[in-house]
Amino acid sequence: MISQHRLSHLFFGSALLATTLLGDPAVAQPAKETPLSMVNALHTAFGEHHARAVHTKGLILEGSFTPAAEAKGLVKMPVFHGATLPVIARFSVFAGVPTLPDNDDGAAPSGFAFKVKAADGDDFDVEANQHKDFIVRTFDEFALFLRAVGATKADTPHPNPVEQFLASHPHAKDFLGSLTYPASYAQAKYFGVNAVKFTNNGGKSAYVRYLFVPRAGENYLSPEDRKARSGNYLHDEIRARIAREPVIFDWYAQIAAKDDAIDDPATAWPDTRKRVKLGTITLNRVNDDAEVDRTLLFLPGQVHAGVAPADPMLVMRNTAYPISLGQRQ
Ligand code: HEM
Repeated sequence: MISQHRLSHLFFGSALLATTLLGDPAVAQPAKETPLSMVNALHTAFGEHHARAVHTKGLILEGSFTPAAEAKGLVKMPVFHGATLPVIARFSVFAGVPTLPDNDDGAAPSGFAFKVKAADGDDFDVEANQHKDFIVRTFDEFALFLRAVGATKADTPHPNPVEQFLASHPHAKDFLGSLTYPASYAQAKYFGVNAVKFTNNGGKSAYVRYLFVPRAGENYLSPEDRKARSGNYLHDEIRARIAREPVIFDWYAQIAAKDDAIDDPATAWPDTRKRVKLGTITLNRVNDDAEVDRTLLFLPGQVHAGVAPADPMLVMRNTAYPISLGQRQ
């Protein structure tokens, strides 16, 4: 049976729509789905809770971002050139269910979103998650998957819509089989997944994907260990951890090689690709203000000086997030 709590591990799916790329990939692939239809597809899968449509349960933390010296050579954006700046971040478990137990199958991949508050008001947002690739390649495929989840009930005859989707989308099946569950939000790698185009002060461009490496090291749970944890173990753990030590991530840009696909988030670039350090995120306190939680919006596809979304999915994500914000109560 597929309960709403157990959907998120089925969340992202994969069939490749024919794509014609003309020039900049971010503008070359019109999606059939709209931001509203996509948010509704999330509700079909997880229910409408008047909260974040997905990654609904989470915790807000605050701290700072310090740019690395080498970031200057990669990107114009002033937040990467100057002094330490304030950060507001949110860790979350995956499924769009406010009461999701942290040890549920639907908790993966966990999310890490943050906003670097820029001195000039041009804040820089990132939304990453704990898996290096996405379940599907396109926005439209994701909606197909979510609707298959919504149409699959306990008594739906086999093969049910999710089983049919996975049978025709082998990457989605592999993705769901490879999910990991961290012992702590502070002990997982996180990935930006969708490619971004960086341009430096000299006009030189590169396609990049973000990677966040935890200073505390990686630690993932066995299925038995996970089931033995409490339904709030990630949130209890991060509160206790941050009371005694900062939570630190080193932020890297993975640089695409010439033939790496820019518009295919279902395919991770090889780990051997060059990485350039962008800086360090240090989180040192919890923010429990309910109004901040209700109104906090991350826009990971924004254009900044020397920064532009390159994967069409990132452009579409950027338009779906404000719709979900508008439905929060
Ligand atoms: C078609 C693909 C996707 C769609 C339609 C989608 C949609 C959404 C929506 C509607 C929300 C709730 C937004 C809000 O209320 O503020 C959300 C949250 C989130 N998404 Fe996505 N998403 C997609 C892909 C991704 C990917 C690839 C990542 C990571 C690489 C990601 C990371 C996150 C995170 C971390 C949050 C929680 C943000 C927070 O803490 O406020 N999403 N997503």
